[in-house]
Amino acid sequence: MRIVGVGEEDTEDREEIYVGELSLFQSDLFLCVLFFSNCLLVSQLFINNEWHESCSGRKIPVYNPATEEMLCEVEEADAEDVDKAVRSARAAFQMGSPWRSMDASDRGHLLNRLAELVERDRLLLATLEAMNSGKVFLMAYFVDLMATIKTLRYYGGWADKIHGKTIPVDGEYFTYTRHEPIGVCGQIIPWNFPIMMFVWKIAPALCCGNTVVIKPAEQTPLSALHMAALIKEAGFPPGVVNVVPGYGQTAGSAISHHMDIDKVAFTGSTAVGKLIQKAAGDSNLKRVTLELGGKNPNIVFADCDLEYAVEQAHSGLFFNQGQCCLAGSRVFVERPIYEEFVIRSVERARSKVLGNPLLPGVDQGPQIDQKQFDKIMELIESGKREGATLECGGSAWGQQGLFIQPTVFSNVTDDMRIAKEEIFGPVQQIMCFRSIHEVIQRANSTHYGLAAGVFTNNIDKALTVSSALQAGMVWVNCYNAMSAQCPFGGFKMSGNGRELGEYALREYTEVKAVTIKISQKNS
Ligand code: NAI
Ligand code: MG
Repeated sequence: MRIVGVGEEDTEDREEIYVGELSLFQSDLFLCVLFFSNCLLVSQLFINNEWHESCSGRKIPVYNPATEEMLCEVEEADAEDVDKAVRSARAAFQMGSPWRSMDASDRGHLLNRLAELVERDRLLLATLEAMNSGKVFLMAYFVDLMATIKTLRYYGGWADKIHGKTIPVDGEYFTYTRHEPIGVCGQIIPWNFPIMMFVWKIAPALCCGNTVVIKPAEQTPLSALHMAALIKEAGFPPGVVNVVPGYGQTAGSAISHHMDIDKVAFTGSTAVGKLIQKAAGDSNLKRVTLELGGKNPNIVFADCDLEYAVEQAHSGLFFNQGQCCLAGSRVFVERPIYEEFVIRSVERARSKVLGNPLLPGVDQGPQIDQKQFDKIMELIESGKREGATLECGGSAWGQQGLFIQPTVFSNVTDDMRIAKEEIFGPVQQIMCFRSIHEVIQRANSTHYGLAAGVFTNNIDKALTVSSALQAGMVWVNCYNAMSAQCPFGGFKMSGNGRELGEYALREYTEVKAVTIKISQKNS
């Protein structure tokens, strides 16, 4: 179904240029949302506030993982398109450009304006997100979109509060620091939280005055392209944000190797994180921040509130079909409550409702693509082979779509692959422990160090364990409790640097010390 041709404009003052060769829309809801939001689907590269076809003429097919049907095609960026986007971002970053000479408060205002537009199009964006990534619609609407809006507002607030210092040095001199934007930031994001990752990346970068070339994951470009339209509508000057959907080995690699990109921020697999860091070293030593994988321990002591801990461990793993770097995928349960914890966890997993994520009542959608589906199924097989007890699930679900039954393994030992590797699917491992020292040692015995949970009503245990865990985020008597103002990032091979909160500002600024000789010596 053809929606509207390239270059056509819709009737209202929203000058958005959309094109979509949509095969069949599988969902009436989607059509309704498109109709009522007076928006259609964008499918082109966004460079210099204009829509572009790709230099190669190639397109990326975009799928709905719940039905495995193609939704549409979008233009596919490659190295040449990335070059074009970098040139536009560089021009927007020149001294004297509208962006560089803008009052910092006005930068904040633009981010707030973008938040308002996201709020206006929240239903459309949540629908796009659910259709394209398989996310449960209500989760997309309430969790992802809420976080998106709050993050934009949070960094909108910071824009005019990024201060340097004056520094007492030898009285012949006056020294102050300026916290300046780094320059052109290349940003590469994954498919598990497409719009949230988009905003986690662009908001702190823009708040600090940088310009951006961002590559959404090849599986999920749709919400990023809609965001591009909103960025233009909000009034950001041309070139400040450029959106280039493309594959990792082509467009992604072009970003990480680019000689005129000053910083690269990446979220995705640890394997690609290593490539990004290497590419930075091989090219221009661009600054690198990485948010990578996790094999996160969730430690449940016998003195916890059992029912609550079971529920938190369940949602801590199964949220977003288990496709979270934060997933609490090693649940360590203290010996006295182990059997009861397993029984209740299995009951809870069995109660999940799988289906089309747009339908009310469904609380688990499909995995993102066949590659992820196969990886998860292969790890489930390895768990069975290596002697873990498969308590429930373990197979594909339904006649259509990339669904996997909620799966729980008990009697998991630390040497099994399911206890060591990031599964990124709806597969929960439950292990048994006997002492606090043992569990700390086992929890830390991984190359990862992203997040961890502790459930106990004993303050001493809570503090001891949270101090000892090697993880960027520790949750006590909760899991996945996040906010825009709280730093996010990992120890060890889970990454480098922090996103969100005030800490993220450091990752998007360079500190310049200016020293001025003064004629009269001061004290
Ligand atoms: P990936 O790391 O390959 O993809 C993430 C992003 O990196 C995408 O935009 C992709 O196009 C890009 N990319 C891929 N290769 C690249 C390269 N050579 N240079 C530059 N950019 C490149 O992750 P993938 O293949 O989608 O998933 C594999 C595993 O990674 C998952 O099973 C999961 O374990 C982990 N993962 C972790 C995520 C997180 O939130 N930390 C998100 C997605 C995946
Ligand atoms: Mg990959």
